[in-house]
Amino acid sequence: MATPNQTGSTPKSFRRAVSELDSRQAEAMMSPRFRGRKQSLIEDARKEREAAAAAAAAMAESGDPLETLVFEEKNGKAIVNLLFTLSGGKTSSLSRTLKVFETFEAKIQHLETRSCRKAPSASVGAAELEYFVRCEIHSSDLATMVSSVKRVCEDLRSTKEDKVHWFPKRIAELDKCHHLVTKYDPDMDLDHPGFSDQEYRKRRKTITDIAFNYRHGEPIPRVEYTAEEIGTWKEVYTMLKSLYPTHACREHTEALTLLERHCGYSEHNIPQLEDVSRFLKERTGFQLRPVAGLLSARDFLSSLAFRVFQCTQYIRHASSPMHSPEPDCCHELLGHVPMLADPTFAQFSQDIGLASMGVSEEEIEKLSTLYWFTVEFGLCKQDGVLKAYGAGLLSSYGELIHCLSDEPEVREFDPDSVAVQPYQDQNYQPVYFVSESFGSAKEKLRSYAARIKRPYGVKYDPYTVSIEVLDNPNKIRQSLDGVKEELQALTDALNIIS
Ligand SMILES: [Fe+2]
Repeated sequence: MATPNQTGSTPKSFRRAVSELDSRQAEAMMSPRFRGRKQSLIEDARKEREAAAAAAAAMAESGDPLETLVFEEKNGKAIVNLLFTLSGGKTSSLSRTLKVFETFEAKIQHLETRSCRKAPSASVGAAELEYFVRCEIHSSDLATMVSSVKRVCEDLRSTKEDKVHWFPKRIAELDKCHHLVTKYDPDMDLDHPGFSDQEYRKRRKTITDIAFNYRHGEPIPRVEYTAEEIGTWKEVYTMLKSLYPTHACREHTEALTLLERHCGYSEHNIPQLEDVSRFLKERTGFQLRPVAGLLSARDFLSSLAFRVFQCTQYIRHASSPMHSPEPDCCHELLGHVPMLADPTFAQFSQDIGLASMGVSEEEIEKLSTLYWFTVEFGLCKQDGVLKAYGAGLLSSYGELIHCLSDEPEVREFDPDSVAVQPYQDQNYQPVYFVSESFGSAKEKLRSYAARIKRPYGVKYDPYTVSIEVLDNPNKIRQSLDGVKEELQALTDALNIIS
């Protein structure tokens, strides 16, 4: 999901095939340039970052210290991060300050001294150290405790830079990752081909209700698609399939053959998500879950960390088989699913998700941009020839032709520059990024992710299907022990066969 979904422009040779269509539709299909608009994770992530920055600025202006001190709040308890110094006008000591925390029964989770970042005050002598305390306290006691701490120490403030966004640690928590961006829905978007079609909107709602009611672990309910819906699918399927032998990467073509054999992929049938999900689970451990539309960037990337792909189930409007402003099953099933059947690509996708866990809005925007230029619009080189592997390309007839023509610029994939590359949502991309292989793209991405500022590491545990937060030496040691055992098993196997 979460990308452009247009099947844009077509060559003259295709004109015969669309001769029965009405003139408006035919014009849209044969347009030399894509005139639609693409929704994207990046736009969504940018808005969230701007909203967060605006909220922080408003908070600072309002001078509400409590709000800015709270790191996380849940079930009547607040976790606060406090920084303070002890030298200055007040004669104080660390033990006296800690007594305040004790009085309010604050549970101290972390206490450390740091070199003071601020310039020492000339009048009262140098404050060479500052103290950092993370503690949990009843929310109702927070205001009193803060004012008490202020009485015994100097310069009390928070460490906003250390704030970590909530992220799911267990796969079942993906039930909470359901924040939708609804502006591209046919109910909200005046330009949506189905906006004035009440029947289409009603049908779309029936299908999206499946996603709204879905909970992790349940089989994905099947949809009985109508003849009209299957007709739309057929049009998209046959057009795109004619291009795949020359334009799609090897992994996509091979997986599509298997999907036709095992999952009911054909021009006459829209595959069911449950069947596709089972197939992917066996191939790469990826699974699908139904989603009601375009998901927020953070929620979407979080799902990838668990090898879960959030997938729409409804289909685009019949009047516009070559373009959909929102993700639909044509885009997901033809663009994304075949690629997720490749083990290296699946790992690459999961790595983007893992890199996103708990990071700032700014980093989410960069990761969304990386996602855009790889998973959605990536090119690769196979036997010296450029091929498409991005789902936005593989589900778009027009852009699939465009991306391998002489028109766009093609650059080598470099995560640092790609992460800040401006993207195009009104037309085809003017720039694409090419990877020598998925393996090399994965290594580059890992190197990029390792430099993202985060006070912990994360590791996916396939046994418990959960995310392990590596934030202390013991956890890292335990994890290393597990790796050592695996290495030993592999070494033993090597010895046996050699
Ligand atoms: Fe997508």
